[in-house]
Amino acid sequence: MHKGIQAGRVFIVAQQPTDVTDPDASITVELNQASRGRGIGTVAFRTASELSGYPKVYAAMRKGNVASHIAATRAGFVPLEGEPTNELVLVWRRSS
Ligand SMILES: CC(C)(COP(=O)(O)OP(=O)(O)OC[C@H]1O[C@@H](n2cnc3c(N)ncnc32)[C@H](O)[C@@H]1OP(=O)(O)O)[C@@H](O)C(=O)NCCC(=O)NCCS
Repeated sequence: MHKGIQAGRVFIVAQQPTDVTDPDASITVELNQASRGRGIGTVAFRTASELSGYPKVYAAMRKGNVASHIAATRAGFVPLEGEPTNELVLVWRRSS
């Protein structure tokens, strides 16, 4: 929500199979067209990850998805090392 209006949706899904000793999840942020480019995506990536309770949250995106890459990076996601894929995968790690 932004100024009382739904700006889009964000969901976090547990990775399967769940490792109970080291759980993690993946995040997707989808904003309505009119809500993009205002910094809302950055807030969504950061806030949802913090509220999720997970120690690690992954964000996968097309390599050409510049807005998503920038928003996730500003939210504290960093590129995942290794495992080269066609997608860009970033990870957010809880700081404490
Ligand atoms: C990706 C998405 C979540 C980003 O959220 P957002 O609120 O639009 O992003 P922000 O405003 O926080 O930041 C985007 C930044 O990327 C920049 N940007 C966007 N497209 C760009 C491009 N093609 N080249 C360079 N910079 C670009 C914007 O200018 C902005 O930077 P600025 O604040 O310095 O101007 C949103 O655009 C969206 O929902 N897109 C469609 C669905 C999607 O791709 N989701 C990602 C799946 S994980």
